[in-house]
Amino acid sequence: MGAPKRIGILSSGGDAPGMNAAIRTVVRAALAAGMKVYGIQKGYHGLVHDLVQEMNSRSVADIIQRGGTILKTARSSEFVTEAGFAASLATLAKYGIEGLVVIGGDGSFKGAEKLAAAGVATVGIPATIDNDIASTQWAIGFDTAVNTVVEAINKIRDTAASHERTYVIEVMGRSSGYIALHAGLAGGAEVILIPEQSATLDEVCERVLTGQQRGKSRSIVVVAEGYRPNIDNGSGSAGFTVGNYIREKTGLETRVTVLGHLQRGGNPTALDRIIATQFGYKAVQVLQAGQGSKVVGLNDNKITVFDIDEALAKEKTIDTELYHIAEIVSAS
Ligand code: F6P
Repeated sequence: MGAPKRIGILSSGGDAPGMNAAIRTVVRAALAAGMKVYGIQKGYHGLVHDLVQEMNSRSVADIIQRGGTILKTARSSEFVTEAGFAASLATLAKYGIEGLVVIGGDGSFKGAEKLAAAGVATVGIPATIDNDIASTQWAIGFDTAVNTVVEAINKIRDTAASHERTYVIEVMGRSSGYIALHAGLAGGAEVILIPEQSATLDEVCERVLTGQQRGKSRSIVVVAEGYRPNIDNGSGSAGFTVGNYIREKTGLETRVTVLGHLQRGGNPTALDRIIATQFGYKAVQVLQAGQGSKVVGLNDNKITVFDIDEALAKEKTIDTELYHIAEIVSAS
């Protein structure tokens, strides 16, 4: 496979701060390598429905600092149908696109794997605030989301201390505890609840009460949305289940905050911009080398390249050491 003369780029799945920085780099690095670049709007939906526009250097001006994605994003159910997939291949053929950069998570990479099997040179760039992609230690958007949550914890801590209350903060992450663990640790939370580590609600209450006995007049409990409490008290979300249980069991004045989608927005941190730029550059290098069916990543401080199938077969694990450090430090 030679280097493609025309490449496409799309973002897919949940948006993540730093996606724009990756788009900017892919466009400019590909133009510098003499390729034509086509932006595909709304992820795979745009491939099915021919939402394609040629991009130039100016199309990506002033976006490095912006959250979200200028290409827009979507979760397409049509693309996986036979007709949708055939329409996607027709769109690529119409513009002569031989290479495709896909910015997103594992679900998006599965689409890239399918296109690669049909002869399109694809490269995946990991981007999701959840950081649940096994082939990279850091995904674009995770650092920004963690910093957003830490800022929220700082603010809640002010009011928690003033009123001497217990605050439960529910954070995103789908079935991953990465945001909760990193933000909880950096925000000095008393308790961190994640899907990867079991903790009963009685144990949570015990930890909060032990803290109070040690002189802590307020407590911060960070709960990942994917944490599954051992008791269902009909409260719905993980955060409210925990908060309502603590209130009933301990009698402590307890409030619950669900941070929600604000965690997905905002200006990307410098780290996310740098990672995104490195990923984008590497993705173009991979295509230029005539390769495809790859996923770039960051592992042990190095930019890595894996085959998509190898990347998708990996299993993401949480850093249990970090969890235990948080437990020891916050219990004192
Ligand atoms: O994958 C990113 C994410 O923000 C998850 O943390 C969350 O569970 C989900 O997307 C929310 O999806 P939606 O924006 O479709 O509600």
